Amino acid sequence: MNNAFLKSFVTLQQVYNEKAFSSIALNKTLNFCKAQDKALITKLVYGVLDNDIKLNYVVSKYVKKMPKGDTLLFLKMGTYCLMELSIPSYAVVNDIAELSKISEDRRIVGFVNATLKSIANTIHTFDDYPTDEVENCSIRYSYPLWALKKLVKDYGKDVALQIASTVLENRTTARFVGDFDEQKVQQTYNVQAHPTPFEDAFYLTGKLPTLDGNFTVQSLSSMAIAHICANGANGNFLDCCSAPGGKAVYVKQLRPDVDVTACDVHEHRVQLINAYASRMGVNVTTHTKDMTQFCAEFESAFDTVLCDVPCSGFGVLNNRPDIKLFRESLDISNLMKLQQDILQNCSKYVKVGGRLVYSTCTVFDNENGQNIRKFLRNNPNFTLGTIVLPQYPSANGNSTYQFLPHKDNTQGFFVAVLERKE
Ligand SMILES: C[S@@+](CC[C@H](N)C(=O)[O-])C[C@H]1O[C@@H](n2cnc3c(N)ncnc32)[C@H](O)[C@@H]1O
Repeated sequence: MNNAFLKSFVTLQQVYNEKAFSSIALNKTLNFCKAQDKALITKLVYGVLDNDIKLNYVVSKYVKKMPKGDTLLFLKMGTYCLMELSIPSYAVVNDIAELSKISEDRRIVGFVNATLKSIANTIHTFDDYPTDEVENCSIRYSYPLWALKKLVKDYGKDVALQIASTVLENRTTARFVGDFDEQKVQQTYNVQAHPTPFEDAFYLTGKLPTLDGNFTVQSLSSMAIAHICANGANGNFLDCCSAPGGKAVYVKQLRPDVDVTACDVHEHRVQLINAYASRMGVNVTTHTKDMTQFCAEFESAFDTVLCDVPCSGFGVLNNRPDIKLFRESLDISNLMKLQQDILQNCSKYVKVGGRLVYSTCTVFDNENGQNIRKFLRNNPNFTLGTIVLPQYPSANGNSTYQFLPHKDNTQGFFVAVLERKE
């Protein structure tokens, strides 16, 4: 049996059936597989998840009745290999049919074999996509239709289609402590490094080394928010939704003179902040707290308060393709309520003259601009402030900014800077 196919199948089962985080499930698999299989397993797992809607659609065009569960997964894996990978089609059909024997049902094996053969015969000329532009884009780029319709409402059709169809490359970025340049990164860690807008951060390609106190993997969007918080910070800084500590730890490293307090509602996630701060050798004070609930000790106590709130994650689909599978439109209204509660409560922790920074990693106006507009209506003692982020001139100097993949070549995240006047 093709070992890489088997390992990919088991990993995908965990994501589809148990809603495991794709990156965590994949990392566990990669720890226990042969070196030569790792690249194919990674490509196949991310490829099937990234293309889930399209694969379902294509399979549906080749069967009378849509299969479910493992049978559908065998077909999606096979179809992905046939459409996107340069594995000979006879090998794909044979190996996936062989893999389907783990179902111990000869009818399934026969069905998978026959369906994949017929897909293999015609897939290279397949063009039976919907004619409606929005539906077409949803299928081709596997962007959920409900989410794409929301984007059309927020941005208009043209921009919505661009957001949904932009595929960002370079999944891994890392930042380094000390005087690392591309050459030193390559020499020290044996990975290829390419510049990013931040001097201390690089795109990495190659096998990632084990994390140490000199470098950490972090998205550019997360780094950007930390820079916005650190630029012009003084005194003390509160990160309200901090785990696993990406932004809080970076703020402390950028501004060692600033006292950093980091909170999260989950005790086990607060331990992640502690572990991360300790690995990077910085001092961050942590608390386990529900930040929707008022804490008198924090009242008007901080110069800068960051609310990096839980969100739908539609700006980071390239790193978290499982979001597209499980998020539903109903989730957004629950999230908005939580986001507004956190923002409203934590605004009380900002000193007069201090800054309140709000951020998400999503592209929906409901969770971004709409929350800020509502907050400003209800809190006339706050006004719009200024984003200081010279590395991204399009955002620099604004009060709020929606980063978009097709425009900013980065993940879709949102930031607003507010100031407390009285
Ligand atoms: C977007 S993540 C934060 C990422 C983090 N700022 C970083 O850069 O590493 C949102 C966090 O909010 C936390 N959270 C959710 N509800 C919360 C609440 N009511 N109070 C405090 N934290 C909460 C979650 O546990 C999660 O860790």
